[in-house]
Amino acid sequence: MPYIAVKGTKDIYKEEAEAYSYVESVFSSIASLYGYHEYRTPVLEYTEVFQRSTGESSDIVRKEMYTFLDKGNRSVTLRPEFTAGIARSILENKLYASEDLPLKVFYYGPAFRYERPQLGRYRQFNQAGVECIGVNSAEFDAETIALATSILNALGFKQLKVKINSLGDEASRNAYREALKHYFGAHIDSMCEDCKQRLQLNPLRILDCKVPEDQEIVKGAPKMGDYLSEESKARFNKTLSILDDLGVDYEIDDGLVRGLDYYSEVVFEVASEYGALVGGGHYDGLLKSLGGPDLSGVGFAFGEDRLVSVMKDNNLLLNSKHGLDVYVMPIGEENVNKAMMLSEEIRHYGYAAESPLNGGKLGSFFKKAIRRGAKFALIIGGDELAQGIAQLKNLESQEQVSIKLNELEKELNHYLDGEGE
Ligand code: HAM
Repeated sequence: MPYIAVKGTKDIYKEEAEAYSYVESVFSSIASLYGYHEYRTPVLEYTEVFQRSTGESSDIVRKEMYTFLDKGNRSVTLRPEFTAGIARSILENKLYASEDLPLKVFYYGPAFRYERPQLGRYRQFNQAGVECIGVNSAEFDAETIALATSILNALGFKQLKVKINSLGDEASRNAYREALKHYFGAHIDSMCEDCKQRLQLNPLRILDCKVPEDQEIVKGAPKMGDYLSEESKARFNKTLSILDDLGVDYEIDDGLVRGLDYYSEVVFEVASEYGALVGGGHYDGLLKSLGGPDLSGVGFAFGEDRLVSVMKDNNLLLNSKHGLDVYVMPIGEENVNKAMMLSEEIRHYGYAAESPLNGGKLGSFFKKAIRRGAKFALIIGGDELAQGIAQLKNLESQEQVSIKLNELEKELNHYLDGEGE
């Protein structure tokens, strides 16, 4: 084969493509219920947008970005995540000044990280997420977490557990960083090269190290909870108590730090019975770091690829197919045009319809209808057509009825909607 897809990318088609649009439509309709509006930013941003906000010490910025010089010698990057680009756009368009705050936006689309491709990890992957920007409150943090669980509930996940932690305010994080520097400083000679760099850049990142020997050392590290300021402790407790009121099930995970530099105060992941699906948190310095006003935000993103594959493995995609409602079958070449006209009429009534435009035999039409997942066959031809009637056959139950073509819409509503469509 002469050409293959770029390593770490994949083609998405047929049922899988439908599954993605199903996830996106459930996601956007639930986000709309919470007052969020769609936001689209470019895939390409100037590199500094991510360096300054996603963070110089994050693995994403240090190792994983698709960065290149364009023909004008400007350094540009394919977005590794959406939050930084949304913040850049809100600042550039001054939406924080012209719109009511908080700005509540949702987005979905491709993102790019140069990671080692493995099951569920790609170099081009798809994220769907939200940002609620401009208000600094435990209430909005909690509501955003509730939204993440509502979306997963609507997609059919049942046993959701929010893992939650507080990274505290800047003073808390500075105190914690000092404690980590002290602790890891004593072990750093036996740790990996990455951790040696992390100790200099941001010792918090060491907590995410995946090297097994380093993880043993990480286990003994000081805990964030012991370094939270009184304000951050109170704020965290308030978030937890609102989550209690909203009936969101959570578990405090004091090892959860998340790998992006912009987080402060609450960070969270939502796991289902099939593992972690969503990650997010609150951020304070992000807009300021991009030269804007000191506005806070909170948000999350889930990886659509992992979500779709988990849903597929666990039969949660049953509602996602846009199957064919009616396959219109002409008996005889002379009725091919009539089948085409009837298909068009059926589509106007809101049902998916197709017909074999190149003609053929009835037996082959049935095989084709079944292969295409059609629910009904409409068989037209012969004397019946002259009398204004046709046969509607339910391809599952095999029941067949005669219907009047001049009452087609009524007949279809009756038989197709009666099927619980
Ligand atoms: P993140 O945890 O880096 O957060 O990414 C969110 C989700 O994207 C992950 O949970 C994962 O499912 C998916 N993901 C990341 N990398 C890959 C990959 N290489 N292949 C497949 N899926 C991947 C963020 O990106 C933050 N912007 C979330 C956020 C929004 N925080 C506040 N607002």
